[in-house]
Amino acid sequence: MKLFDSHCHLNMRHFKDDWKSTYERGLKAGVYRMVVVGWDISSSERALKMTDEAEGVYAACGFHPHDSKLFRDGDDVKLRKLLSHPKSVALGEIGLDYYYDNSPRDVQLKVFEAQLALAKEIDKPVVIHVRDAYEEALSVVRNVGLPSSGGVLHCYTGGTSFIEKALSFGFYISFSGIITFPNADDLRESAKMVPKEKLLIETDSPYLAPKPHRGKRNEPSYLIYVLRGLANVRGEEEEELALVTYENANRFFRINYL
Ligand code: NI
Repeated sequence: MKLFDSHCHLNMRHFKDDWKSTYERGLKAGVYRMVVVGWDISSSERALKMTDEAEGVYAACGFHPHDSKLFRDGDDVKLRKLLSHPKSVALGEIGLDYYYDNSPRDVQLKVFEAQLALAKEIDKPVVIHVRDAYEEALSVVRNVGLPSSGGVLHCYTGGTSFIEKALSFGFYISFSGIITFPNADDLRESAKMVPKEKLLIETDSPYLAPKPHRGKRNEPSYLIYVLRGLANVRGEEEEELALVTYENANRFFRINYL
């Protein structure tokens, strides 16, 4: 069974000493491909460097809403350069986080809009992070538009109330280990509403380890538990869902997989 971890952060300090062996454990567990996601310039550079060292690693480069207050003049030029790397498959993660508010909201909005416009210009798919700001984020997307290659709502937590609106924008929806948490019934309901061809799975390592590893450092080799959780919820076969999400991820990130 081949799996694709559509969102992880092996570029974080949590994996400073053992990202390569973590990657290899993932491979042994069937995770043939993964996108390592940046949150500022230097983390995006680290992600790209890892793509040179591991065949199955691809990178997303961009400014996370938490870090948007650190976005400086000239960073757009740096970002463009990073995004021209052949294994740089998406602009991300970008978006709005009104739960933590680590950057002022007006700054988050400005940096989100600017990166969305850049993605459209260079036609890169976007990886979008939203927390407690789904209406606001969708209104930015409505105003600025999406690149023709589309976007994913990563680690979706909008529940049933937003899923139809999200799907109407053509978004892919990526589910994380939260799908295995006991208090996530509304999320599980929303997972049933996503058409197969729009589903992605992710670990968001080092965060959100699925049951039975909840609370530990998460890693790509645990992706099987996310897949299993999603398959159970939807009443589908694991093997088939693995194949579908693998193909979806390769299509979305425009990676040749034959
Ligand atoms: Ni992330």
